[in-house]
Amino acid sequence: MKILVIGSGGREHAIIRKLSESKRISHLYCAPGNGGISKLATCVNIKATDIEAVVAFSKSEKIDMVFVAPDDPLALGMVDALEANGIKAFGPRKSAAVLEASKAFSKQLMKEYHIPTASYEIFENIDEAILYLDTQKMPVVIKADGLALGKGVIIAETHEEAVKACQEMMSEHKFGDSGKKIVIEEFMKGKEVTVLAFTDGKTVYPMISSQDHKRAYDNDEGLNTGGMGAFSPSRAYTDKINEICEREIFIPTIKAMEKMGRPFKGVIYFGLMLTDDGPKVVEYNARFGDPETQVILPLLKNDLVDIMEAIIEERLDEITLEWETGACACIVLASGGYPVSYEKGYEIKGIEHAEEMDDVIVFHAGTKEEHGIIVTNGGRVLGVTAKGKDLSSAIARAYQAVEKISFKDMHYRKDIGNK
Ligand code: AMP
Ligand code: GLY
Repeated sequence: MKILVIGSGGREHAIIRKLSESKRISHLYCAPGNGGISKLATCVNIKATDIEAVVAFSKSEKIDMVFVAPDDPLALGMVDALEANGIKAFGPRKSAAVLEASKAFSKQLMKEYHIPTASYEIFENIDEAILYLDTQKMPVVIKADGLALGKGVIIAETHEEAVKACQEMMSEHKFGDSGKKIVIEEFMKGKEVTVLAFTDGKTVYPMISSQDHKRAYDNDEGLNTGGMGAFSPSRAYTDKINEICEREIFIPTIKAMEKMGRPFKGVIYFGLMLTDDGPKVVEYNARFGDPETQVILPLLKNDLVDIMEAIIEERLDEITLEWETGACACIVLASGGYPVSYEKGYEIKGIEHAEEMDDVIVFHAGTKEEHGIIVTNGGRVLGVTAKGKDLSSAIARAYQAVEKISFKDMHYRKDIGNK
């Protein structure tokens, strides 16, 4: 079987690595891929959002299945376009990917189907938004409706900050059209946990839980990033909480999408807040999370191709997910200055020494191969990942592996897993 994976980050490297273990695959391609992915797959120079080029390539290379991993091509309808051309594609169609692409849509769905989430209002008029803020307790959360590279969420501590966030989104168009409509919602307190789930639109199977670290610096200081590290499983996500989530969140969400004529097939990401009033949804994503995927897929025992096929053919209920019993941790090595501005093109040393260690995998996020040398090529550069018999040994091993790697201005958090 020939499989093409769309995307170029640590998540895609983790997916490619998992697929490369499948005996069912004869060749792997990745568009556009990165320096690490190129060791396992043929990287094709096509942008992840170039639907026409992906369809044309899949036809000419007779690709059997395309795995669309990132949010933008899903929201643009890449899966629909591939299917229309008779090519099997893994991921939600455009009509279902809207669960991530529009926060207003997802909030309305949760309200209508009584799925627990923060209370909220939606605004398309700045004056009304500002009037509403006068009635709200601080902190309050302001969200751009559309996709904004994970940066369209502002937690405002003061009324002034909240007004400024609304102005930036609605009047100054900081996130372009994504901020024309905004959601203002209640601030929820609690532990934040990620649960990814496989679903074929009917059956929904949660994967093992994980937690990520979004802020740039230790103790959750600094700006929000794409994610500075992750670990799995979450200590806080007990079997009892999972039962509640299945009953009140996972199954109702999948049923709601089906009822609305938007069956969701692929991986659904539940961002959950474990509050004193029970688990509530922070956000949905329509795909595998990053860096969470880097700590989850190494623990999955099943052949991922079997799961993908079962989902596409709507027979996920025939599969039983199997997991390793240990834990996994991932430390993201970032370029100095990330997430604001940073240099690229620095030589990365020591990856092979880290990978010589047992149970260590180095996933590439922003790297490129230049004349046989791996150089930095993005904000998040590597995801140094280790498995262990429990969380503390996985975390300790991942940090030992980090010690072996260096590049100019390398930055990483020292407290991954401490929550
Ligand atoms: P989102 O893009 O919706 O996941 O938001 C980014 C981050 O902002 C989340 O991972 C949370 O840490 C935080 N966040 C979003 N909404 C809320 C909320 N209602 N209460 C508390 N924190 C939130
Ligand atoms: N780790 C957060 C995300 O993938 O959106």
